[in-house]
Amino acid sequence: MNAIVDQIGDLAEAGEKMVERLRRKAFLPESRKELNVRFGIAEAAHLLGCSTNRIRMAEEDGRLPPAPATQNGRRPGYSVAEMLNMRSILGASPERAPLDIPAIIAVQNFKGGVGKSTVTTHLAHYLAVQGYRVLVVDCDSQATTTTLFGFNPHFNIQRDETLYPYLSIDPTQVDLLYAVKQTPWPNVDLIPSNLELFDVEYELAAAGSDGGSVLAARFRKLKQGLMDLARNYDVVLLDPPPALGTISLAVMQAANALLVPLAATTPDFCSTVQFLSMMDQVIGQLQGAGIAVDYSFVRLLCSKFDANDPSHAMVRAIMEQSFGPALLPVPILDSAEISHAAMRMMTIYELEKPIGTPRTHKRCRANLDQAMGQVEALVRQGWGRVAPAREEDIVNAA
Ligand SMILES: Nc1ncnc2c1ncn2[C@@H]1O[C@H](COP(=O)(O)OP(=O)(O)O)[C@@H](O)[C@H]1O
Ligand SMILES: [Mg+2]
Repeated sequence: MNAIVDQIGDLAEAGEKMVERLRRKAFLPESRKELNVRFGIAEAAHLLGCSTNRIRMAEEDGRLPPAPATQNGRRPGYSVAEMLNMRSILGASPERAPLDIPAIIAVQNFKGGVGKSTVTTHLAHYLAVQGYRVLVVDCDSQATTTTLFGFNPHFNIQRDETLYPYLSIDPTQVDLLYAVKQTPWPNVDLIPSNLELFDVEYELAAAGSDGGSVLAARFRKLKQGLMDLARNYDVVLLDPPPALGTISLAVMQAANALLVPLAATTPDFCSTVQFLSMMDQVIGQLQGAGIAVDYSFVRLLCSKFDANDPSHAMVRAIMEQSFGPALLPVPILDSAEISHAAMRMMTIYELEKPIGTPRTHKRCRANLDQAMGQVEALVRQGWGRVAPAREEDIVNAA
């Protein structure tokens, strides 16, 4: 007898084939996307906080490589790698000072679909454009973030490449270095995930009465492992699973800052309130057990805000009333550009040209810059510096 439930396996198989087809269309054979974004000289100067003249002079006197040659009367612009070199030569790097503590931000909410992975990947790429060194850790076995970085979690990622060998009850790794992967972005690395990371959750249940000590050991481990890795970065972004499990708990206390995305809808608002109250309880319990949780900031970020939907404005007003200054003032706007880019497994920061109209694209990009800039400012406050070094400061200091 062919049970109806057997169809589930067939559906999964057909779906997986399609995922792989999409991936092949979006990616190079070796599963690495190429990063083709370029910055014109005006944009480069703006990002570095200097004049275009300063870049031209450095190109002329040989401190910087010659300007890219024109093609069909247009300059192709600077790559992300060239921008990073320009920053270091011209003293315009925003990197933290060696003694500043790297920001380890958990992008967390226990609800799925609130934009955790979208915020994580866009924040990573925004910070990369600004010149920071970023590590993204995909802690969710659903692996959306891994996918958005150009890896098919099913075909390209083995369990031993995820957090699993480090967090397993029988660990085969003593630190997290093995898991760090390069991405198409020269200043963004990724620890990927796949479905098998979920075994970490099963193992704890199987540990029975030893569960408590296993859990505590994992907490310490993830925090230690991430702190060791964080030395090489300015910002570490953690994308945890949308549920209260072992990994979520470990992430919660490995982080030193918390960013909570939520859409301006009643269900998202209600489940976020539940999430906050659950966080509060859990943090109390952890602290009671001698496990410190300490955040340099806690902020809520409204994702997918539709300015044309009156209900969004209403829910946003409720959010403002309830959360006050903990709600970041600039929401991320709902944009077809973001969902279209996601279909190509990309962020807005990776698009060479608009998918929709140039106006839609520009609006979306400007909004994201502003929304992500709010988080950047919080990170910099943690380092005791409000703005990245500007040309005037460098000139005055010299
Ligand atoms: N600002 C936005 N505009 C349009 N679509 C968005 C936006 N933010 C998120 N999305 C879409 O919403 C869906 C859920 O987002 P995702 O980041 O995967 O949520 P989560 O990680 O919390 O489950 C995705 O299809 C994503 O492309
Ligand atoms: Mg996600």
